[in-house]
Amino acid sequence: MKTGPNAPRRLSIFGSTGSIGVNTLDVVTQLGGREAFEVVAISGNANVALLAEQAKACGAELAVTADEASYGALKDALSGTGIEVAAGREALIEAGARDADVVMAAIVGTAGLEPTLAAARRGADIALANKECLVSAGELFVKAVAEGGGQLIPVDSEHSAIFQSLEDGQHHAIERIVLTASGGPFRTWTREQMAGVTADVARAHPNWSMGLKISIGSASMFNKALEMIEAKHLFNLRPDQVEVIVHPQSVIHSMVGYVDGSVLAQLGCPDMRTAIGYALTYPNRSKLDVERLDFAKLARLDFEAPDEVRFPALRLARTALERGGLQGAVMNAAEEIAFHAFCDGRIGFLEMADIAERVMDDMTGYKAAATMEDVFAADGEARRRAGEIIAQKEMAA
Ligand SMILES: NC(=O)c1ccc[n+]([C@@H]2O[C@H](COP(=O)([O-])OP(=O)(O)OC[C@H]3O[C@@H](n4cnc5c(N)ncnc54)[C@H](OP(=O)(O)O)[C@@H]3O)[C@@H](O)[C@H]2O)c1
Repeated sequence: MKTGPNAPRRLSIFGSTGSIGVNTLDVVTQLGGREAFEVVAISGNANVALLAEQAKACGAELAVTADEASYGALKDALSGTGIEVAAGREALIEAGARDADVVMAAIVGTAGLEPTLAAARRGADIALANKECLVSAGELFVKAVAEGGGQLIPVDSEHSAIFQSLEDGQHHAIERIVLTASGGPFRTWTREQMAGVTADVARAHPNWSMGLKISIGSASMFNKALEMIEAKHLFNLRPDQVEVIVHPQSVIHSMVGYVDGSVLAQLGCPDMRTAIGYALTYPNRSKLDVERLDFAKLARLDFEAPDEVRFPALRLARTALERGGLQGAVMNAAEEIAFHAFCDGRIGFLEMADIAERVMDDMTGYKAAATMEDVFAADGEARRRAGEIIAQKEMAA
């Protein structure tokens, strides 16, 4: 391991086989590869072939698959390389606790919470794509990063935009933040039209190329709902300071409105590599080979008020923010179960929000979490209740 001011930064990438993970490895290459980053650990789940290929290409010290059944396949694929191999939940947490300077948290869903928390507690800077860490664990997660001594740098393009639009020392002067939303593939659709869509139709995002969960979440606007809660915790805002505006071109990635009427925004082409590069090099900026905005070609930027009737997820996020406590964890867990049921064809597109709302209404008694165990208990109970509702719906159908 090299030391000194020009030594490569030690980087771990959790979820390296996913959309953010693959883009992260591309950014690493663009920023200088092994001259710039020593890859400590990378992780995946089902896609063992890609994980092994990535580990060899970037020279990772450790490759972890979350899927214990895939251990043998990963070990075979990496035999003779000297790359350490591990599998399972505990192995992921142990990998999170390794001595990386910066950790890209890009596992999808609540599965990303424990390894990211381990990295935060050990003091790594956290490049946070996995919004579920903040939606579920909120203040506890922010506190863990602060106590570990690392920095929390958002990767979600909206939160990266807000982070970049925040003026140093002017947090007290923030009036509101405005999260932009493309509106997804069903922006102009009626509820009747949305009722019968399949996951294949819902995953076709008009502007961004992303993983399945976030693509479906963009169609239902559950992704924006999660982002509202993420923003509240990340920037320590009151619920009434978090606004959403539909902006179909996805060029303004989000904005900060100040008490003097100024609004600062960050703009760019819809390419996650800009936000990833910023998180990996913060507080500096480095050259990236991404498409540049051509304003003459763009010609116009449009905005529309969001429709909380057609997209009830936004109303649910507002409810979760106002109720506080563990409602974010509950909404997130119930929605994750409903998302899988929708993808499996067990429930319809509109039922995802119904299920999340019923579970949230049933679990208003879960007050603010004192420990991570409280978060995991609420998460588990919300999953159980969402599963029960789905089973009842299937019996009734
Ligand atoms: N994609 C984007 O543009 C984007 C933008 C902003 C924020 N985000 C956030 O970033 C996170 C990742 O999104 P993504 O679009 O990159 O997702 P994705 O393409 O579905 O990739 C998810 C990653 O997590 C791994 N994974 C899946 N289930 C797992 C489990 N149970 N335990 C451990 N690892 C597991 C996957 O492994 P395998 O592929 O090997 O199965 C893959 O590496 C999400 O929280 C999302 O909201 C994404």
